[in-house]
Amino acid sequence: METVFITGANRGIGLALTREFLASGYRVIASCRTPNAATALHELEAAHQGGLHLVELDVVEPESLANLVPTMEQICDCIDVLVNNAGILLPSDGFRQISAANLRQSFEVNSIAPLMVWQTLLPLLKKASRPRIVNITMPTRALSLLQNRTTNHHYIASRYALNALVKMAADELAEEGLITIALYPGYVQTDMNGYDAKAETADTAVPKLVPLIANLTAAQNGLCLLPDGSSFDW
Ligand SMILES: NC(=O)c1ccc[n+]([C@@H]2O[C@H](COP(=O)([O-])OP(=O)(O)OC[C@H]3O[C@@H](n4cnc5c(N)ncnc54)[C@H](OP(=O)(O)O)[C@@H]3O)[C@@H](O)[C@H]2O)c1
Repeated sequence: METVFITGANRGIGLALTREFLASGYRVIASCRTPNAATALHELEAAHQGGLHLVELDVVEPESLANLVPTMEQICDCIDVLVNNAGILLPSDGFRQISAANLRQSFEVNSIAPLMVWQTLLPLLKKASRPRIVNITMPTRALSLLQNRTTNHHYIASRYALNALVKMAADELAEEGLITIALYPGYVQTDMNGYDAKAETADTAVPKLVPLIANLTAAQNGLCLLPDGSSFDW
């Protein structure tokens, strides 16, 4: 049985991924900031005795990260799949709304934390026979195509940074047997977009992602994948 570790698993896409991986027979380690308040995860835990473990993790807190490895070593010998899912969108609507505090926070959660979680869990990932690291993100186009974009600066800039870091680390760590991708989950109804009616529901969007992650190959290392498995030209 493969083990999946997911950040921000208490709601939205992270919760739907937890549900789908469990239904597909994986052992899931679902991390979130406040497990005591994660009602939906507790319901899944009761329904999948032994299959789901709840772990406390605030991805931007060094102390929380430091506690992670000893906690994990009590649960599993290795991690087959890491899903860096936790993220925030602090909106902006024009240049004058860009704030240093919001940029810093967005980079902390969306760009830096995925790398720190990944570094922390690397020893356990390396013990798996086919370790995969999946970084949930937005597909970033050539900067020349960003013209006329005047919203969500904090989020977009932080995703360009994450994607650059993922690509560089993917190429470096491939030599050690890791398969690393950036993954766009599609436009999915969650708190992040106010359950926009134009987006797909998590119940229909997320099930497509699990077989894609399960079947990742070394040839896909360093790519940004779309929900249908095709590669985005970033
Ligand atoms: N929805 C979309 O259409 C879409 C499209 C492209 C990419 N994404 C990406 O998909 C991921 C999930 O987003 P979502 O749509 O499911 O949004 P969401 O419903 O707002 O969920 C965000 C999750 O991230 C967690 N989180 C935030 N800061 C954290 C921290 N410091 N430590 C640990 N967990 C933290 C939240 O936990 P709390 O409950 O504790 O706040 C929550 O579980 C994000 O990375 C997002 O950028 C979403």
